Amino acid sequence: MVKLEGIHKTFGKVKAVDGVNLQVKKGEMLCLLGPSGCGKTTLLRILSGFEQPEEGKIIMSDKDVTKLPPDKRPTSLVFQSYALFPHMTVYENIAYGLRVKKIPSKEIQKLVIDALEMVGLSGLEERSIRQLSGGQQQRVALARGLVMKPAVLLLDEPLSNLDAKLRVETRIQIRDLQRTLGITSIFVTHDQEEALTISDRIAVMNKGKIIQIGTPEEIYNHPNSEFVADFIGKSNILDGSYKSDMDGKANFVLSNSTISIQILPVENIGDQPRLILRPEQIQISEEVNTNPQVNCLPAIVEHITFLGEMIYYHVRLENDARLLVPVYYASTRRYKEGDQIYISWDINAGKILVK
Ligand SMILES: Nc1ncnc2c1ncn2[C@@H]1O[C@H](COP(=O)(O)OP(=O)(O)O)[C@@H](O)[C@H]1O
Ligand SMILES: [Mg+2]
Repeated sequence: MVKLEGIHKTFGKVKAVDGVNLQVKKGEMLCLLGPSGCGKTTLLRILSGFEQPEEGKIIMSDKDVTKLPPDKRPTSLVFQSYALFPHMTVYENIAYGLRVKKIPSKEIQKLVIDALEMVGLSGLEERSIRQLSGGQQQRVALARGLVMKPAVLLLDEPLSNLDAKLRVETRIQIRDLQRTLGITSIFVTHDQEEALTISDRIAVMNKGKIIQIGTPEEIYNHPNSEFVADFIGKSNILDGSYKSDMDGKANFVLSNSTISIQILPVENIGDQPRLILRPEQIQISEEVNTNPQVNCLPAIVEHITFLGEMIYYHVRLENDARLLVPVYYASTRRYKEGDQIYISWDINAGKILVK
């Protein structure tokens, strides 16, 4: 449905978008996820035609739209700031784009009423924008995008101005609506949880480049780099060296120690392999775990963070490496700072990052 080929865009010395290739399938919800300044907004503006790339091609529904202005593209862009007209009513805001396209008033009325119903704002037609809450304004902005019946809906951090609870509710509604309408969407966010919960696929960006693209589970379980492992979810990342032996087994020996961890064998190991362990895969116990399928190491509880439903134990290994071990508050006994404990994890759980 959407295809980007070799897109480059620089502002002065800044490579805002640095050779992006991307394909989005029909009906798919794709998230562009990355830290602030990595080029997400620029890429959306290039898709919508508000910005011209220096190099590259943009195809939508098999048509080359690279040179087309925004109003000739099958896209609607929902801005981070909403960009609503504050002096106009809800109705007039949503109708605006249709009027520009010279759609007859009768038809506009029906389309606006439908769009308002989709976003759950029926009855607020005559309100002025100033009389709406942030969440309602966000929905007007969404309705204004949807009313144009775009083939591709582009959303630039549409939830970032909402408070935490409303953000969670609204993202579910947007996802439901997107699925129901089957509308191809590109959703920009810097919030990894948002990306994991609403996407069919996620494209992780850094410094103008796409670092990895995949389903939320692929990205979470098989990050291709330290950047992705660290940006998505929490990670324990350990330094060491890789040792494989004859009978298809492998070990990872932690730096500055003789601590040897069983891992699954890896091919093409680079110079500086690192072991990543998702915190939730680690268990904490008083007793040593002798199951041969797990790694078990002694550690000391160095610091404890209480988060309500969870407790984060920050533990230190014998080589001074630090790991985070989250535990549900209700699930186990509690430990104190300074306690000598054991941590263990399934030998399949550790993943080697190959540089
Ligand atoms: N109009 C512009 N003029 C100069 N630099 C810009 C402009 N737009 C974006 N940039 C720069 O390009 C980079 C990417 O910006 P942006 O696409 O807004 O990132 P994101 O949306 O991921 O936060 C940043 O370094 C930003 O400062
Ligand atoms: Mg942005």
